[in-house]
Amino acid sequence: MKIFLSSLLISSLFLLYGGGMSSSELRSLAKQNNLKSTPKSYSQLLKLFDNPKNRMSTKKINLGRTLFFEPLLSRDESITCASCHKIGEGGDDNLPTAIGFKNRKNPKHLNSPTVLDTANAKFLFWDGRAKSLEEQAGGPIQAHFEMNLTPKELVERLSKNPMYKESFKEVFDGNITFSDVKKAIGAYERTLLTRGKYDDFLDGNDTAISKNAKEGLKLFIRKGCVECHYGVALGAENIQRFPKHGKMFGFKNIGNFKGKDDKYLFRVPLLRNITKTAPYYHNGMVKNLKDVIKIESQYEINDELNNEQINLIYDFLKTLDGNLVDYGLRGTSNNPIY
Ligand code: HEC
Ligand code: HEC
Repeated sequence: MKIFLSSLLISSLFLLYGGGMSSSELRSLAKQNNLKSTPKSYSQLLKLFDNPKNRMSTKKINLGRTLFFEPLLSRDESITCASCHKIGEGGDDNLPTAIGFKNRKNPKHLNSPTVLDTANAKFLFWDGRAKSLEEQAGGPIQAHFEMNLTPKELVERLSKNPMYKESFKEVFDGNITFSDVKKAIGAYERTLLTRGKYDDFLDGNDTAISKNAKEGLKLFIRKGCVECHYGVALGAENIQRFPKHGKMFGFKNIGNFKGKDDKYLFRVPLLRNITKTAPYYHNGMVKNLKDVIKIESQYEINDELNNEQINLIYDFLKTLDGNLVDYGLRGTSNNPIY
């Protein structure tokens, strides 16, 4: 009885406090829980995300951008990084599983994650096996079901092209190497950051997001979603068990991918632009974001949310939609958009 009464007291205090929370209190709560806005300026970006082993520069970024859209990176010159990571459409391909060289499907039925907002990722890929964007970029070029080219072949191809010869010399001060290709791509990807209404709210604009979205943000924090999905991108910083509660995924096990060490350990996905990156989960088996929120509540926080709560979290997740920040880097690029 005593326990019951005190828990009643605690939960009613909780409700009172929650109900009456001001925007600035909610903002502080978000910041205490390691939620952060996207940098607005290039100097802030560098301060937060530059890689000491691959310093960013305007020329390197422009070279990386050209390579990202370069079909020479694939064996039959038909596929670019942007084929599966459409920068203007959420940074992914909207397919359940990726389709690469000669229409080969990803053998584990893996879904293409977004490349947007990966600047701060501590781990990349669904099982978190790459630790930097530079390291990651080597994977798809070589995978026989993606671009299917060897590092040697790629270097030979690019070295025959006077524009690349010149650019690599300018940026890296030497002959073209596979390692420098990955560095240029990594430097470019670090600039693919988005800002939305959520950032405006975190940066001090009380009316940037709706009342419902604020309630959703509160639930996201209090129900513990934030324990895994945190940081500037709301994810990509840690590896966690999925499902944490329960035995199977809660969606079709197509591809039978079991994550890191086959232990159902998955890199926590980032949640920016989540409304644009359906279908969801490592094998792309769930189409509807509200279904995902329900599954997450059952399997990750073990506290099944009701429809009203799901709708509030959904309203919050929508505020994570953003536009690429213009860091003034478009310079001499032949791709003026991104
Ligand atoms: C055929 C489609 C396809 C192509 C082409 C492709 N990717 Fe991917 N990309 C994927 C898939 C699928 C994954 C997830 C694979 C995994 O986890 O094993 C992925 C993962 C990534 C990630 C990790 C994102 C994260 O949050 O973990 C980055 C970054 C990335 N790709 C960048 C690139 C770059 C750069 C290129 C070009 C050099 C490229 N991709 C070419 C399909 C593709
Ligand atoms: C214990 C860590 C953990 C917690 C807590 C957690 N998640 Fe996740 N979340 C994950 C992992 C890991 C995945 C990827 C699982 C997979 O694809 O197999 C994921 C996937 C997702 C996805 C799909 C992302 C995509 O691109 O496919 C969304 C959306 C999401 N979570 C939202 C939430 C919400 C909302 C909550 C709170 C109700 C929550 N998560 C709680 C770890 C967590």
